[in-house]
Amino acid sequence: MTDTEALLAVLRRAPVVPVLIVDRLEDAVPLGTALVKGGLPALEVTLRTDCAMKAVEAMSAIDGGVVGAGTILDPSQAREAVAAGAKFLVSPGTTPAILDAALDLGVPILPGVATASEALMARERGFKILKFFPAGPAGGPTYLKALASPIADVMFCPTGGVTAENARDYLKLPNVVCVGGSWVAPGDAVKAGDWGRIEALAREATGLKG
Ligand code: 3PG
Repeated sequence: MTDTEALLAVLRRAPVVPVLIVDRLEDAVPLGTALVKGGLPALEVTLRTDCAMKAVEAMSAIDGGVVGAGTILDPSQAREAVAAGAKFLVSPGTTPAILDAALDLGVPILPGVATASEALMARERGFKILKFFPAGPAGGPTYLKALASPIADVMFCPTGGVTAENARDYLKLPNVVCVGGSWVAPGDAVKAGDWGRIEALAREATGLKG
């Protein structure tokens, strides 16, 4: 299985990849467990907090979950995240160095792109599943739809401004494999340890279809 096929297999398991900001390490396992129990197995831990790498490590042990690291800004973060147990990587933008690192590591990556030119640059390097970021500000479903015909062999995971309300507008597009979003793990619910609410939000998200 190629890296792309492996990534597709993970992303096709549910319509939403939760984008997670973990401030307290002790939240990592209950948060991930609630999301997996609710039906969302792919978990993107953003590398934006002090404990993020440790959260990736801790969440790797969750039965039925597939933990990835997001907000990859450079090759060293990619290497560190994979060493911590990340099974996929997500970057907000695309640079040759980040793509090289992912290829060297043999770990699938969703490189972030916001334009046709960026999508073609990633495609030239063999990456055909991309993160469309920031999806809302970059043009939303209308923009992404316009890429489907000319760049027909590239699939996207739109992220950034995707909500329970507008997710279907993306999911119905032929070039969308799934969406990413933080709405399934709201900060107040995480802070309060309200894992039941997060599991319920995840369950609702599994019902989203285009
Ligand atoms: C991010 O990297 O912050 C993600 O795109 C999440 O965006 P959201 O909070 O709008 O879902």
